[in-house]
Amino acid sequence: MDYKNHIAQKLNIEGVSTEEIQSFITPTPSQDMGDYALPCFRFAKALRKSPVAIAEQLAGEFVTDDIITDVKAVNGYLNFTVNRMGFCSATLKSVLSEKQNYGSSNEGNGKTVCIDYSSINIAKPFHIGHLSTTVLGSSLYKIFNFLGYKAVGINHLGDYGTQFGKLIYAYKAWGDKQTVEKEGLKELTRLYVKFHEEAETHPEMEDAARAYFKNIEQGEQSAMQLFNWFKELTLTQIEKIYDLLNVKFDSYAGESFYNDKMQPVIDELKAKNLLTESDGAMVVDLSAYDMPPCIILRSDGASLYATRDLAAAFYRKNTYDFDKCLYVVAYQQNLHFMQIFKVLELLQKDWHKDMVHVSYGMVSLEDGSMSTRKGKVVWLEEVIEKCIEKCLAIIDEKNPNLENKEQVAKQVGVGAVIFGALSNNKIKDIVFSYNKVLNFDGETGPYVQYTAARCSGVLAKADINFEDYTLPNKLESCEYELIAHLSTFGDTVKAAAEKYEPCFITRYAIDLAKLYNKFYFECKILTAEDKNLVKFRLALTKAVRITIENALSLLGISAPERM
Ligand code: ARG
Repeated sequence: MDYKNHIAQKLNIEGVSTEEIQSFITPTPSQDMGDYALPCFRFAKALRKSPVAIAEQLAGEFVTDDIITDVKAVNGYLNFTVNRMGFCSATLKSVLSEKQNYGSSNEGNGKTVCIDYSSINIAKPFHIGHLSTTVLGSSLYKIFNFLGYKAVGINHLGDYGTQFGKLIYAYKAWGDKQTVEKEGLKELTRLYVKFHEEAETHPEMEDAARAYFKNIEQGEQSAMQLFNWFKELTLTQIEKIYDLLNVKFDSYAGESFYNDKMQPVIDELKAKNLLTESDGAMVVDLSAYDMPPCIILRSDGASLYATRDLAAAFYRKNTYDFDKCLYVVAYQQNLHFMQIFKVLELLQKDWHKDMVHVSYGMVSLEDGSMSTRKGKVVWLEEVIEKCIEKCLAIIDEKNPNLENKEQVAKQVGVGAVIFGALSNNKIKDIVFSYNKVLNFDGETGPYVQYTAARCSGVLAKADINFEDYTLPNKLESCEYELIAHLSTFGDTVKAAAEKYEPCFITRYAIDLAKLYNKFYFECKILTAEDKNLVKFRLALTKAVRITIENALSLLGISAPERM
């Protein structure tokens, strides 16, 4: 039963559509206020009346029925009371019948959303700073798919630039095949750092590196071979981490993919008189918009990061015909994306309004050891491995006889990292702390996973079929609160997509786990007074397990059966 829709259908507000009314209705924070509320200040301007007067008038006109049993005007709000039993029974029924689809929708059917995330740089460390873009983007990818959109996950690889010339130089000077093959990215990083150290006293190395890069640009065979090898090495190593984190992409078209796709952009900029010369470079002047110029071609004719992003935007529109194109990139690049989107607008691409920079804050490690300078790097893989190890130690202490300990430690360790990274509004800077993300009693992934395992434990102990459960005549308040929270899952997923905030889902999961644990301690489940009550509480437990699982899966986290 869609109560909001039912309420909205019954309201008549001049100049406001039913959909709009429905979007303003929210569940109330406390039961004394009824179950749903409509804030009438939303209509004050259109109706030129005070919210209080509007609420009173609407309350007077509203005809209650057997679904909405009461309506009251309170301080400019309309508060609705629903038929609780009907509401609870309908909610439980939908969770139990829709199972892994509970909370999904088809609102996005026929629409495509491109999501550019992780977008790592080849031959550079995959460090803790990449955690947010990777898990935020991946979660948005899963959320949009769950809502019926076709999401396209794009890893816009940083596989172009003078740094590859430097790397070839360093490899030829100090590297060898075996070490690179064995150590992978670590060795490539070491070589890269060494280049910079040496170049300080031997500036002529920079010219040699530039020459190597020119070779790559011209497709010279031996340079290409090395470059492709570095790329392959990076990708194989990084895919292991993506697998651990349940992250997937549909395309790895990176910067070099656009080598032959920039000319049409440049031509169009010229044709529309948007290119001007500045110190030999070709730029789009953005001074009228209080922004520095967007550089398209350097004075030596080389293209830039921005040129490639413009070509990529054209390519994505042509290839995927997206309805939205998201860039999950740190706030350091706010200006870059403002420039790109402005240039698209000046090019009269009406789809410039569909481009969104999903900007997020920085991640650092608690002990402050995150400093990429001097090659001192906090490798993401090591952070994840360490979390898994610490998790195994906790399990060894708390539940030493657990089967598949390693497997569970992996699920929980990874869950802790992802959940920790998605716990706050994305724009906030976060300080990563092992103890914090691994605290089984805190607002963490392990806490939520533990609650899901608790549900499974209860269900495993039940030797009764509860499919024919019925609702008791009166619900305990913790039962009602739990069901009411279950009913808001779909809205939470929608809101997370709308605001690009997976943290709405982590928050939801924490609240659901807390409510279930309260119920678990306050109400007897398997030993309840009568058989019907046992069945109902088992059904409720099952519904909670399903919903936690769905919420976690949208974050890329699995829910172990036992832990
Ligand atoms: N590789 C870039 C970096 O590490 C991020 C790329 C983001 N995506 C894009 N289309 N510009 O800074």
